[in-house]
Amino acid sequence: MIGEELGEVLFSAEQIAARIREMGEAISQDYAGHDLVLAGVLRGAAFFLVDIARALTIPATIDFIAISSYGPSSKTSGVVRIVKDLEEEIAGRDLLVVEDIVDTGLTLGYLLRILRARGPASLKVCTLLDRSVRRIVDHPIAYRGFEVPDRFVVGYGLDYQQRYRHLPYIAALKAPV
Ligand code: PRP
Repeated sequence: MIGEELGEVLFSAEQIAARIREMGEAISQDYAGHDLVLAGVLRGAAFFLVDIARALTIPATIDFIAISSYGPSSKTSGVVRIVKDLEEEIAGRDLLVVEDIVDTGLTLGYLLRILRARGPASLKVCTLLDRSVRRIVDHPIAYRGFEVPDRFVVGYGLDYQQRYRHLPYIAALKAPV
């Protein structure tokens, strides 16, 4: 049974699917004729990456990168390390970083810095959720699914202590954590 700590549904599976269709159309138009590489940031973005890839009407290569904070408090320092790198060479290619959520922007800042150094032809960001109220470092976001309030959200890839990623919808947690 799904935990009692789950609060209201913020985005239903249908709402998510409809938004992803729109985003897929926009990406397909913008990248037609380009060598598009989608880079999903594990683990949260795995679900979104798969669905956004299926919403494209143009060819695209999919890949994943995983990073880890050095410690519980270091997330806010942006000090992270790559624990699984991209398999693809990205020099001269059009890279789209796919995130489930952007909060402080520190993770993205780190990622964009190291990926830019590899010389992609272009480097843009696509995120399903944007919790911009928590932003510390701003980055341009080319494709954004939904803005979310300052609540802890789970489902569709997002976890609370590794739980709830599998939910087909996005819900708030009842209790503040
Ligand atoms: C989440 C999310 C981003 C990051 C955003 O990952 O997927 O990578 O946090 O936070 P920021 O903007 O404050 O840096 P998380 O560390 O929860 O790992 P997960 O994807 O494995 O759940």
